[in-house]
Amino acid sequence: MAEQIHKSDVAGTTWDPNQYLKFADHRLRPALELLNRVPLEAPQVIYDVGCGAGNITRIIADRWPSATVYGMDNSSEMLEKAAAVPSGIRWIQDDVMTWTPPEPPGLIYSNAALQWVDGHEDLFPRLIGLLPTGSCLAVQMPLSWGMVSHRLMRDTLSDGGPNRAPIGSESLRVAMARKWVEDADIYYDWLASRVSHLDIWETEYVQVLQGEDPVLEWVTSTGLRPILNGLDDADRDIFLNTYRQRLRTAYPMRADGHTLYPFRRLFIVAVV
Ligand SMILES: C[S@@+](CC[C@H](N)C(=O)[O-])C[C@H]1O[C@@H](n2cnc3c(N)ncnc32)[C@H](O)[C@@H]1O
Repeated sequence: MAEQIHKSDVAGTTWDPNQYLKFADHRLRPALELLNRVPLEAPQVIYDVGCGAGNITRIIADRWPSATVYGMDNSSEMLEKAAAVPSGIRWIQDDVMTWTPPEPPGLIYSNAALQWVDGHEDLFPRLIGLLPTGSCLAVQMPLSWGMVSHRLMRDTLSDGGPNRAPIGSESLRVAMARKWVEDADIYYDWLASRVSHLDIWETEYVQVLQGEDPVLEWVTSTGLRPILNGLDDADRDIFLNTYRQRLRTAYPMRADGHTLYPFRRLFIVAVV
């Protein structure tokens, strides 16, 4: 079995719930589209894995008011924010790689979280193995590795320093070079023989963003965090100066002041 590491471990990352929630509308849409494809009438026990600040968890709890709903995350910052809003949701701090649900799940839902966890070849069958017959796993993950914004992160770490020198440590560059989410056919091969119903699809959202450097703002709350946390102050400045310019060229502001940021996402709904 491959050693299980988390992308967020690479640089001892912390989450900033407020930065993450800045683009709440764009982030909400795929979460709801995933939820709408869950083919269950009334799951009794639901887990929102990697629940973050709990925004989606509360929507899940509203959709199935008689269910017991758990929000699970390994970030105390996110859970603190989640628990600050009164609700009947049970918040638990745990790591999805080693987590065991306290009650048998009817639904394990995970939006925009599992891309931070390595070892999907083991993780996905493990999650399916936690499900009793008739229950469901629903997952959405960004397919960001191939996107220009993320390629430019890797390029800038490799050649963005003075005299086109690499920036930061070799281990950071290696971690950022990893493709953390596989293509859809790989998940199909891992899951198809283990489930009774499997729905897999991809959607590219042409996100219309506002502001001076909106793509930089976007990635600052997610994919750029391991780099920002993994560089010292001087290297972070060098990185950001080059990266910001490259993003402005790759994603030019339109005549009306908006910036288009196409963003691709993978969805998986599996019923056992
Ligand atoms: C991008 S946020 C998504 C939050 C929420 N699902 C949403 O859609 O708004 C990713 C979340 O995954 C959590 N996470 C990352 N690795 C995790 C792990 N190994 N176990 C549990 N949660 C994890 C992070 O702490 C973070 O709150």
